[in-house]
Amino acid sequence: MSRFVPDAGDFRPGRWLEADEEKRKTMERAVMWYGQGKHICLGQHIARVEMMKILAMPMMRFQVSDTDPEATLSVRPYSAIGYPDRPYFITVKEKQIAASGA
Ligand code: HEM
Repeated sequence: MSRFVPDAGDFRPGRWLEADEEKRKTMERAVMWYGQGKHICLGQHIARVEMMKILAMPMMRFQVSDTDPEATLSVRPYSAIGYPDRPYFITVKEKQIAASGA
């Protein structure tokens, strides 16, 4: 059994959303996504950039807006990103890109 989470062998990403601030900091200290020490992943920065591109690219093609314009969004910070603290609905529409006449 892990010192950090009792179910470390299970694929359960939701544990990051459930953890309180103190528990999350403890978990962050224990992650080794890219290994540790002298054999730490040499491509980790490339991998992170590629993942950011995967997230950003749909934004070029789709228009994203609040489903309910009156809804307020309160975000729980986590690392460089944040999570909504409750379900929050968005509407996604394909952008209409005008054909160039040139
Ligand atoms: C999400 C993507 C990736 C993950 C999760 C990942 C994970 C890892 C891990 C855990 C290790 C350490 C293995 C060990 O300790 O024996 C490692 C090593 C390594 N990774 Fe990655 N990696 C990723 C992407 C990449 C990319 C894109 C490249 C190259 C462009 C790369 C190049 C390397 C190399 C060269 C090593 C060996 C480092 C050494 O032994 O000195 N990785 N990676």
